[in-house]
Amino acid sequence: MKRRQILKALALSTVLALPGVPSAVAQESVKVGLIVPLTGPFATTGRQVEAGAKLYMATHGDEAGGKTIELIVRDDAATAEQTRRIAQELVTRERVNVIAGFGHTPLAMASAPIATQGKVPMIVMAAGTSVITEKSPFIVRSSFTLPQVTVPLAEWAAKNNLKKVVTLVADYAPGLDAEKAFTETFTKAGGEIVESIRVPLANPDFAPFLQRVRDAKPDAVFSFVPSGVGSALMKQFDDRGLADAGIRLIATGDVTDDDLLNGMGKAALGTITTHHYSADHDSPENKDFVKAFEAANNGMRPNFMGVGGYDGMHLIYEALKKTGGDTSGQAMVDAMKGLQWTSVRGPVSIDPETRDIVQTVYFREVKEKDGQLWNVEFDKVEAVKDPVKAATN
Ligand code: PHB
Repeated sequence: MKRRQILKALALSTVLALPGVPSAVAQESVKVGLIVPLTGPFATTGRQVEAGAKLYMATHGDEAGGKTIELIVRDDAATAEQTRRIAQELVTRERVNVIAGFGHTPLAMASAPIATQGKVPMIVMAAGTSVITEKSPFIVRSSFTLPQVTVPLAEWAAKNNLKKVVTLVADYAPGLDAEKAFTETFTKAGGEIVESIRVPLANPDFAPFLQRVRDAKPDAVFSFVPSGVGSALMKQFDDRGLADAGIRLIATGDVTDDDLLNGMGKAALGTITTHHYSADHDSPENKDFVKAFEAANNGMRPNFMGVGGYDGMHLIYEALKKTGGDTSGQAMVDAMKGLQWTSVRGPVSIDPETRDIVQTVYFREVKEKDGQLWNVEFDKVEAVKDPVKAATN
């Protein structure tokens, strides 16, 4: 190096080392701001995502690409204004390199502009509305989309002699995504939707809605409610005697959430769902994961939210390895595009076009094994992309 170049490099490194000046070069630790609901009615989601992220760090060490990973966990109580405020604060004041978590769709939507303005990767570990990844070029998703898991279930329903179905979904974005995906696929296959019911997201009383289902006399109800709410639906479905009236419940796996399934009791038996993760998934990776997760969390069984947190950390670690520790948002997001790995849920990859996860969708039935309830997989569709974006790309 010539003397002038050396001086220039020295001057540059001094500038970069100044406090308050963010720099990919001078910074030794990589800060990940994890924003999840840890209080309120959706606290189970936050607990799972946090436990998944922490387990990844405990089992893979806290270093990647020559940088130390530091996790900063914040509770947004599932309130969009709080998520946005926390995201803003983490990016501008704490100077985090990545924001992550996002337990519900409105929380992810509220934070997307902050990822864009701050040029920081935003890892959506939980929320499932299709459109989320289009809200910022810095978003990468490790969870799933509702249409991704719903389309295979609608096809299954049509093939399995269900002719008349009532849809019953939580009345917000992912519910509307699920309703639309089910309705379009099922009617195209010759089925009939006899009624489309939307229930409030907060503290839903399912009783009046389930009475409407009974009156409509369908072969089945298709349902999506977010993780944490499935037990109430299952209980009231049973109390109202819908199964006795010959009406089946089919649902996305959010309803028979592994975290709560044992508490649902026998009413859940026989429920058919589609989803991307079951704690019962038969692979050596998953067996080790479930054992370690339960050991680290007082016996709590991992659900798909826990896996979203675990795999979201994997994305961050692998991106840092690929960039050699370069934490610039664009470099990290580019490194995540096209990543493939064997997740505890099965083979997955990040679609380089959409930054959404491509994964196997499993058909499952709730069964009892050794005195516990499990979502037992009986069939699968491989390499499923989000069908909404696949149709427009
Ligand atoms: C969402 O709000 O996007 C969401 C939340 C919980 C779920 C699925 C989707 O189980």
